[in-house]
Amino acid sequence: MVRWMRLLVTGGAGFIGSNFVNYWLLKYPDDSLINVDKLTYASNPEYVKHHIFGSRYKLVREDITNREVMDDLVKRSDVVVNFAAESHVDNSIASAEPFVRSNYFGVFNILESVRRYDVQFHQVSTDEVYGSLPLDSDRKFTESSAYNPRNPYSATKAAADHLIRSYINTYGIHATISNSSNNFGPYQHREKLIPKTIINAMNNRRIPVYGDGSQVRDWLYVKDHCSAIEKIILSKNYGETYLVSAENERRNIDVVTSILRILGKSKDLIEFVDDRPGHDVRYALDPSKLKRHLSWKAVHSFESALKSTVEHYVNNLNLYM
Ligand SMILES: NC(=O)c1ccc[n+]([C@@H]2O[C@H](COP(=O)([O-])OP(=O)(O)OC[C@H]3O[C@@H](n4cnc5c(N)ncnc54)[C@H](O)[C@@H]3O)[C@@H](O)[C@H]2O)c1
Repeated sequence: MVRWMRLLVTGGAGFIGSNFVNYWLLKYPDDSLINVDKLTYASNPEYVKHHIFGSRYKLVREDITNREVMDDLVKRSDVVVNFAAESHVDNSIASAEPFVRSNYFGVFNILESVRRYDVQFHQVSTDEVYGSLPLDSDRKFTESSAYNPRNPYSATKAAADHLIRSYINTYGIHATISNSSNNFGPYQHREKLIPKTIINAMNNRRIPVYGDGSQVRDWLYVKDHCSAIEKIILSKNYGETYLVSAENERRNIDVVTSILRILGKSKDLIEFVDDRPGHDVRYALDPSKLKRHLSWKAVHSFESALKSTVEHYVNNLNLYM
């Protein structure tokens, strides 16, 4: 059995991708990793601890829609892990085209290469493909729930998942998919709820909260997400989909007030603003399959991970300006 691997990670200068690159290269000192990232506004090459990885790590500034480049990189890899995406729902409502290109056509492009060279592929997808749950229900989405994406971002992610399954069924590619709930942790762009709340509060600026803040999200610490992806890749359970969740449902307003409490700031900073069009009310995932098949479990509690996340942004504000 081969003891070392050559990974091709896409979008590894963004939030979850950079956490994954750091996680993997620290844990597997014999592995090498190429990070293909277009370096959009959401990225920062400094999120990766490249100084300590030396020649085991290489950043290639490129778009995953570039067929020739991706073909060349995929054929020299053992596993491709795709994090590259346009990821902000509000931006997808303003203009869907970059989302269709990166999140759908980009995945098509990777699929063509992994098919040609028979390379293992893992797609990082989202709970948003399942749509929204009512606030007053205990229901959770499972791997067999129907897809019902409700904004351009989630529609492009759903379309990509369908395309991957079609390639698994038609061409027998060696692929897996994970759909995770909302992540939080270091290296997330300040447009997202948790970093935005921390950074605005530190600067005594207003903190916009959509509607009345009653929307529920199912929060997953990014390092727990990385360990789930690791388990899925190493399982080689091709054709399988796994939902990743730490089962931490919290109302947006409660997350914001927890952050204000940690920072010792006043709730008066909160400003309720007009709700996002078509805003999903509640997401919740059932991770039983991942726990049962692969013995995964989230090891970080929401409270302690939120506290260390706040400390990270307070101590590294220069990365987010
Ligand atoms: N953040 C979450 O809570 C969450 C939850 C579930 C799933 N996901 C999925 O995880 C993945 C990563 O999300 P994130 O929050 O880290 O996003 P992010 O926006 O922080 O990072 C995305 C990265 O992809 C790069 N990128 C975008 N388009 C590209 C292209 N065409 N070619 C090459 N690079 C490109 C960007 O430069 C950036 O570095 C996405 O696929 C997203 O759908 C995110």
